[in-house]
Amino acid sequence: MGRRVGAFGRRGTLPLWPPTPAGRIPLRGEEGNEEEGRIGFKEEEEAMGEQWTRREFLEQVAAAALAFSAGLKERWAEAQEAPVPTEGEKFRLAIIGSGNQGRTLMREALKIPGVEFAAVCDIFPPHREEGLKLAGPKARGYEDYRRMLEKERKEVDALLVAVPLSAHAPIAMDCMEAGFHVFCEKAMALTIEQCQRMLQTARRTKRKLQIGHQRRYNPIYHHALNLIKKGTIGRIVHVRALWHRNHPWRRSVPKVDFDPRPWGYPDLEHLLNWRLYWATSGGLMAELGSHQMDVVSWFLGAKPLSVMGMGGVDYWKDGREVWDNVQVLYEYPDGVKVVYTSITANQYDGYYEQFMGDKGCIVLTQEQKGLLFLEPKAEVEWAEFARKEGKAVVLDTKATTSKDKPKVPNTDLTLDQATGKSAYQLE
Ligand SMILES: NC(=O)c1ccc[n+]([C@@H]2O[C@H](COP(=O)([O-])OP(=O)(O)OC[C@H]3O[C@@H](n4cnc5c(N)ncnc54)[C@H](O)[C@@H]3O)[C@@H](O)[C@H]2O)c1
Repeated sequence: MGRRVGAFGRRGTLPLWPPTPAGRIPLRGEEGNEEEGRIGFKEEEEAMGEQWTRREFLEQVAAAALAFSAGLKERWAEAQEAPVPTEGEKFRLAIIGSGNQGRTLMREALKIPGVEFAAVCDIFPPHREEGLKLAGPKARGYEDYRRMLEKERKEVDALLVAVPLSAHAPIAMDCMEAGFHVFCEKAMALTIEQCQRMLQTARRTKRKLQIGHQRRYNPIYHHALNLIKKGTIGRIVHVRALWHRNHPWRRSVPKVDFDPRPWGYPDLEHLLNWRLYWATSGGLMAELGSHQMDVVSWFLGAKPLSVMGMGGVDYWKDGREVWDNVQVLYEYPDGVKVVYTSITANQYDGYYEQFMGDKGCIVLTQEQKGLLFLEPKAEVEWAEFARKEGKAVVLDTKATTSKDKPKVPNTDLTLDQATGKSAYQLE
């Protein structure tokens, strides 16, 4: 596929992503994009962060599991008063899609007291077997999720869905219709219309639907957002986010006698490398960018007004359809511009989200740490955020209230003098 350039929103006319007609994001005022019935921020918060009761345990299972998966167990425990199951109480889960991420979710969920997996469904036998190994000898295996929904109705409290993107909406909706609460991996779905239908289904069936954007459950992000709300970095005018890799994103395809055509995949290559084809994937923007653009909209409390960008299959010319690089410029209200890039031929800079205000800059890197850089006109009390001393002040949620600026050990230098650049790490 050649290079594509497009824009939509206030300024543009061409769809940017996804490029399939069915998936095109409607322009303002077009059918499917009316303000009413769209997923707005209220509904999004509802889907992402509603407070649920303990028995409706999806929150603790999924959110805690994902926080663990980011290596944040301790911080999660600090940040949340996770409900503790009573003695002998069990939360019975089942998973649909025990591939890479599905098994990660299983491993993490199994660390939560009381959680067990009653059933595992995957169309691909080797992945199903791997999932069953994790679930233990009592768990039941299924090839067809519809059969599992029928059989496990009384046995399972909630379902985890970790299938390719194109299957999120149909499977999650079927699960809710069958009466199950659902944790569905990100991105929510392949098209906006599918997202809307998922949300409508959740409301109508009164089932919980949670989407796996794990930054939403990461205390570092909540801490950073609190600082932004307090005005620590002033007025945000620019945001930069990126995910850079030097990796083809392609999996090797084993010689296994398995025909995935009944499940809608033309061959095993298309099943295992679903990320590389438009029918099943939204490419880099859906798989990686969705995490980061979700944070941008969350932190800015706004939706983009317009977007333009380009991408192409320019490096990994191996038969893939999705672009191996994307460069995108978003416009948010009040003139805020967001530059997003994702590339696969150079890993410099890794991945991060960077919020640039007129008094400072917060950089959230690799989901593991946050850095705060001051502008000269910053008005913050450093000690307000400092937790421990070192080459940089470590900022965390247990900030001291001391008015003294922290000193570098064995010197008279304050930490911001010592570091020169006024870089402070958020933990
Ligand atoms: N939150 C994160 O950081 C994160 C990380 C990686 C992947 N993911 C998401 O997790 C999901 C799965 O990604 P993955 O890397 O595990 O892919 P994968 O290919 O390893 O696993 C997907 C599994 O789904 C199975 N499957 C496909 N269609 C099915 C169907 N109709 N019924 C039952 N099983 C079916 C496949 O056989 C496969 O085992 C994707 O949505 C992806 O975006 C999220």
